[in-house]
Amino acid sequence: MHNIDNHAIFKPFVKWAGGKSRSVNKLLAWVPEHIDTYVEPFVGSGAMYFKLNFKHAIINDLNYELICAYKSVRDNVEELKALLKTFKYDKELFLKVRDWDREPSFKKRPEVEHAARLIFLIKTCYNGLYRVSKKNHFNTPFGKDLKPLICDEKVLDRCSIYLNSFNTEIYNLPYSKLLDKIPKGAFVYLDPPYHPLTQTSNFTSYQPNSWKEREQELLYEFCVKLHRRGIKFMQSNSSSPFIIDLYKEHFTLQYIDVTRCINSDIKKRSAIKEVVIMNYDEKGHLLPKF
Ligand SMILES: C[S@@+](CC[C@H](N)C(=O)[O-])C[C@H]1O[C@@H](n2cnc3c(N)ncnc32)[C@H](O)[C@@H]1O
Repeated sequence: MHNIDNHAIFKPFVKWAGGKSRSVNKLLAWVPEHIDTYVEPFVGSGAMYFKLNFKHAIINDLNYELICAYKSVRDNVEELKALLKTFKYDKELFLKVRDWDREPSFKKRPEVEHAARLIFLIKTCYNGLYRVSKKNHFNTPFGKDLKPLICDEKVLDRCSIYLNSFNTEIYNLPYSKLLDKIPKGAFVYLDPPYHPLTQTSNFTSYQPNSWKEREQELLYEFCVKLHRRGIKFMQSNSSSPFIIDLYKEHFTLQYIDVTRCINSDIKKRSAIKEVVIMNYDEKGHLLPKF
């Protein structure tokens, strides 16, 4: 099991749909003990990233706003905090800032403004969850009766120290483009959009295009490539028959119980089984190549 003692105090600076904060301690049981390079292609809030010890890391996500936030926390935390302090918990301001992404010049805003907007909206919206429309417009409503700490200086400073002291490279790429950046001795943790457990389950809906079976098959092929290069990986996914069938022949599968919100209602939770897929055995030895 991975040694986490040194970093018990680090926690993500945003809450994220599918975030692993609740299950990360269970997952750590299967993380290799020594990691040179840690790679997280679908980093989200980075619940796993902020728990581990390593010498170097590569984190990535397709979400541009989120990556602006990581880069600002790493390189520009003072300006980010100063901007966050100008925001207030106020519905009118929330709606105004939420609408920035309807402006044609939105993408041209400095990274730090994207970062401050994302953190502000997540802290003040309903259920604290990032959600966008098909047009990629943030559409979660204002969260009533909250007491948000919009600028949590302690957490932002700690995350900034973490990102800097662990020599973290940050990318905003489709995960498949990372393959050639991953060095041989790396450990890769993949937490992709999940395959739905049932036709109606909607916990992948935080993406405008949630993943279909073809996307899961492409991810399987990516994992096979990692395996053939001798790179250890661990993946979290739903324990749907489709996912189990894809991986069961060649890889190690373990199951964990995780509590999830039902229909994005944070008050209604139920326990579901998730699968953890690895290309190594209980002793950490790589499985045979195929
Ligand atoms: C389940 S979430 C990851 C949650 C994360 N482990 C955490 O603790 O918050 C999946 C992430 O994958 C990202 N994503 C979706 N498609 C992607 C792609 N093709 N390449 C890279 N990232 C992608 C989404 O933006 C989202 O942040």
